[in-house]
Amino acid sequence: MNLTVVILAAGKSTRFKSSIPKILHDFGERPLIAYALELAERLSANPPILVVGEETDAPLRAWADERAQFVFQERRLGTGHATLQAQKVLEGGTTDRVLVLYGDMPLLRLETLQRLVEIQQQRDAAIALLTVIRDESQGFGRVLRDSTGNVLRIVEEPEATPEQLAIRELNAGIYVFDADFLWTNLPQVKPSAEKGEIYLTDMVELASDQGLTVADLIVDDPTEVMGINTRVDFTDALAVVRERINRHWMLEGVTVVHPEATYIGPDVVVGPDTVVLPNTHLRGKTVIGDACVIGPNSIIEDSTIGDRCRVTASVIEGSEMEHDSDIGPFSHLRPGSLVCTGAHIGNFAEMKKSTLGPGGHMGHFSYLGDATLGAHVNVGAGTITCNFDGERKHRTIVEDDVFIGSDSLLIAPVRIGKGAKTGAGSVVTRDVEPETLVYGVPARLRRSLKVEIDPQEEL
Ligand code: UD1
Ligand code: CA
Repeated sequence: MNLTVVILAAGKSTRFKSSIPKILHDFGERPLIAYALELAERLSANPPILVVGEETDAPLRAWADERAQFVFQERRLGTGHATLQAQKVLEGGTTDRVLVLYGDMPLLRLETLQRLVEIQQQRDAAIALLTVIRDESQGFGRVLRDSTGNVLRIVEEPEATPEQLAIRELNAGIYVFDADFLWTNLPQVKPSAEKGEIYLTDMVELASDQGLTVADLIVDDPTEVMGINTRVDFTDALAVVRERINRHWMLEGVTVVHPEATYIGPDVVVGPDTVVLPNTHLRGKTVIGDACVIGPNSIIEDSTIGDRCRVTASVIEGSEMEHDSDIGPFSHLRPGSLVCTGAHIGNFAEMKKSTLGPGGHMGHFSYLGDATLGAHVNVGAGTITCNFDGERKHRTIVEDDVFIGSDSLLIAPVRIGKGAKTGAGSVVTRDVEPETLVYGVPARLRRSLKVEIDPQEEL
């Protein structure tokens, strides 16, 4: 079997009321269209065919050029006409099965499509189609079966009789076609009576009229075939994605206290016994270890958090927190930050491209930019690494066991030697020798700490 997926994405998305095509809107960290593309890539090694129209052509090419083959539907004459655009690319090639998907149905599961492909094969069907049983029709076509239960045809809402409109089995619009059957018969479909469109659904009647097999699969979970037409659909579908992800992690041993207010991205990993509190957004390639408490009110993006960490009402981007470290409330790790094992960051602290070494403490309103701090450094309240001279950024190095007094300004580039101390309010403009005490503005060497006991216990 050689399957190619055709994704219909030429629609105008009129009801979405946006200057950007709906399939390019960010839907759970990827454009909506990415869901169909991912499904296609998992189903077949052949590049999927994207049927695009005037509005979707350029933006989709810009986004997915490498991942698909593009065909252009000049005039939107219906789903049958859209599928027909793929004929010139596929007919005569090795593809003998064609799966048609829509670009705006992001909730379909891979397993469902795999089953549909299997059913088509097993029954050697001209068509295998996906149907759904629902009370609300949402404008979907109705599935007409004969007395033995075989699917006879699909009737679209504009052409349906009142009796047909009462049918609760609906056409999801997803099909696996035998390629020969498709390309022989699709060009013969006539425009529909009411709308004048070339309906792909008419292929069902063409198959049953020829005595060919029409196989079907009734989808278990109706949310899978939700199409996105309006912003209301969009938000409803996003809630389903969120629910699926949260449920997955709960079944993996994560406590999600309030799933409706917990936003975990599709590529995030969370360890067991971690508790995620409300209003937490875990995004990008974030990995959270075991037994952490994350949130409430936290945003963690593209970051790695070790085991037993605590993140309270803080924002962490492109950074790493090692085991047993904690942060917050109200602190911010900007990209390139590393908080080592057992380190503590309290409130109103910011780090950027900096390392707070193992067991370090930064309890209150401080800024570390382009700084590397060794082990067991205490960063006093109000400490600032002055890393920018107006033109360039410079590094600050703080060696192990340093005590930085409150309100110290470290004017980079500068190095503070192991075991040194800066007094409160120091402006450190020059390197500080190990095990010395400096203070003042600018900070001067006041005494050696090599033999003496620390006179300033509590700064
Ligand atoms: C279609 C089915 C209907 C089914 C429903 C499920 C037909 C005739 N009807 O409805 O039985 O219940 O899907 O969602 O197929 N598109 C193009 N070019 C076109 C027309 C559509 O690319 O000329 C694309 C759209 O971008 C969209 C998809 O095809 O992604 C479906 O089109 P839409 O108009 O929403 O489907 P319906 O005709 O309402
Ligand atoms: Ca639709």
